[in-house]
Amino acid sequence: MKRIVLLIAVAAAFACGCKAQESAPSALDVIMTRTSIRNFTGDAVPREQLETILKAGMAAPSAMNGQPWRFVVVTDKDKIASIFGNGPRSGMFTTAGAVIVVCGESKSMRKPFGQPDAPEVEMDNMFWYEDCSAAAENILLAAHALGLGAVWTAGYPAMERIAPISAALGIPEKVVPLCIIPVGVPAESPAPKDKWNPDNIHWNQW
Ligand SMILES: Cc1cc2nc3c(=O)[nH]c(=O)nc-3n(C[C@H](O)[C@H](O)[C@H](O)COP(=O)(O)O)c2cc1C
Repeated sequence: MKRIVLLIAVAAAFACGCKAQESAPSALDVIMTRTSIRNFTGDAVPREQLETILKAGMAAPSAMNGQPWRFVVVTDKDKIASIFGNGPRSGMFTTAGAVIVVCGESKSMRKPFGQPDAPEVEMDNMFWYEDCSAAAENILLAAHALGLGAVWTAGYPAMERIAPISAALGIPEKVVPLCIIPVGVPAESPAPKDKWNPDNIHWNQW
């Protein structure tokens, strides 16, 4: 009898495992079906999901593993409305559950390259915006994988856009907002754009 119960339990666990595997979209599915979402229901995004999304952001590659990304996550509805609710198309911010400002530390204290014994000096992080762009894309993909919507909206180098945001959020001078990503429960389901264009590829030689 004990044996039968054990067998049933193993079979049930196996069946659940297979189901979970079947229902999880593949990384390629997530990449190919992501599209910008600009209308949200207004529902909050649980902190746990936001942390998963940020973890995905921080899993991005970065030059010399410098990880220059910094994130300001705004979940307070009044604050979202007062900082992001004034421009054109502000609805994508005011209906979002959270707004993630992806920032890059544009300078940091480092030893000059190839001089391990030299004192640390403040140097430009040459690749901060590439590194932070990789983090931002991971954030968009992670949000989509969780069934949420998001859109990259422009920050750097449009200084006139980012100066008021930096001021309102107390972002230090050497930390630059690269992009502002509203994240939320989608209230629209636009079809992903088909961007496949073989003309953009040159095999072996341009
Ligand atoms: C650097 C950059 C800046 C963008 N700025 C904005 C923006 O300010 N507002 C906006 O609605 N979408 C913005 N987008 C989103 C693009 O419009 C969108 O990614 C593009 O139209 C392709 O659509 P898809 O994301 O649905 O594939 C930006 C995207 C990037 C990569």
